[in-house]
Amino acid sequence: MLSRTRQSNESIMSIALFQSGPGVGADSKTCLDDVSLHRRLARWNQRRLSPATPDDAWRKELGEEHQMRLLEGGYVEAFRTEVAEAVAAVPVDADGFIDWFEALKAEGPGQFDPLFDWLAEEATLEDLRWFLRQEAAGEAGFDDLVALTQVKFPTSAKLELARNYWDEMGRGAEGGMHGPMLERTTAGLDLQPSIEATLWQSLALANTMTAFATTRRYAYHSVGALGVVELTAPTRVAKVAQGLKRLGVEPRLRKYFDLHAVLDIKHSEDWNREALRPLVAADPGCARSLAEGALMRLICGERCFEAYRQALWNDDARRARA
Ligand SMILES: [Fe+2]
Ligand SMILES: [Fe+2]
Repeated sequence: MLSRTRQSNESIMSIALFQSGPGVGADSKTCLDDVSLHRRLARWNQRRLSPATPDDAWRKELGEEHQMRLLEGGYVEAFRTEVAEAVAAVPVDADGFIDWFEALKAEGPGQFDPLFDWLAEEATLEDLRWFLRQEAAGEAGFDDLVALTQVKFPTSAKLELARNYWDEMGRGAEGGMHGPMLERTTAGLDLQPSIEATLWQSLALANTMTAFATTRRYAYHSVGALGVVELTAPTRVAKVAQGLKRLGVEPRLRKYFDLHAVLDIKHSEDWNREALRPLVAADPGCARSLAEGALMRLICGERCFEAYRQALWNDDARRARA
């Protein structure tokens, strides 16, 4: 009982913090709250998305779900407030919107971060292992996010998400499935990702994507966020692939990165033409949500890259890892 009371007080405090709007996260006290918030959300996401069987605790679990949904919603809504100004003038006609969206590749937050040239050309194998461990723990599973998002969308968008999902599934061949391909990399490099060893910025990225995909009021955010991953991933994963190759990592363990450096260029073109364009043409009112989702996803990435650079380029941290 005591621990439940403490838990709900903590939840209320976190919600209050995240409802305080821009500037949250600026001091060390709030940073601690970022850590506890995103670890709790990450653990909950892990639990709630796992297949399970009925048990007698379902009423109690619904109470917890309500608490966690409030926490998650408070976080997402505060984040939406942060990007409100940036999306205020997003075009709502299909051509204008696609132009705005595609410009994120060159001008979006976190694009061409110097971290990736360094990973490609200078990082040690230990540096790359540390980076990949962070990324693996923050990986929400693109295939499941797509599957959760496509529910009840109109035909063109639904079909595009289905085609994308089928590629994620290796078009029916286990050896080509993207998720297990990444798992082979993490196992082959002995990475052992865990929530506790992962920076909150990486957990926040996965928590944001999961919130979008599992909450129907954020369904368009999810389409925008997944689309911006396809748009921006190829340049980054090509650099990671280059770094792994330079360090002698065998092709089997690099395959995930080599594949996405090429395939996601096509995925992005298809997503923009078959999902984003028809959605905006049919309902200009969804443009803002698509844009918010894309921008929030890029900001999550930008925060990760900054935090990774701080950790990787800090001499003391490097010595501790060596
Ligand atoms: Fe993929
Ligand atoms: Fe893709």
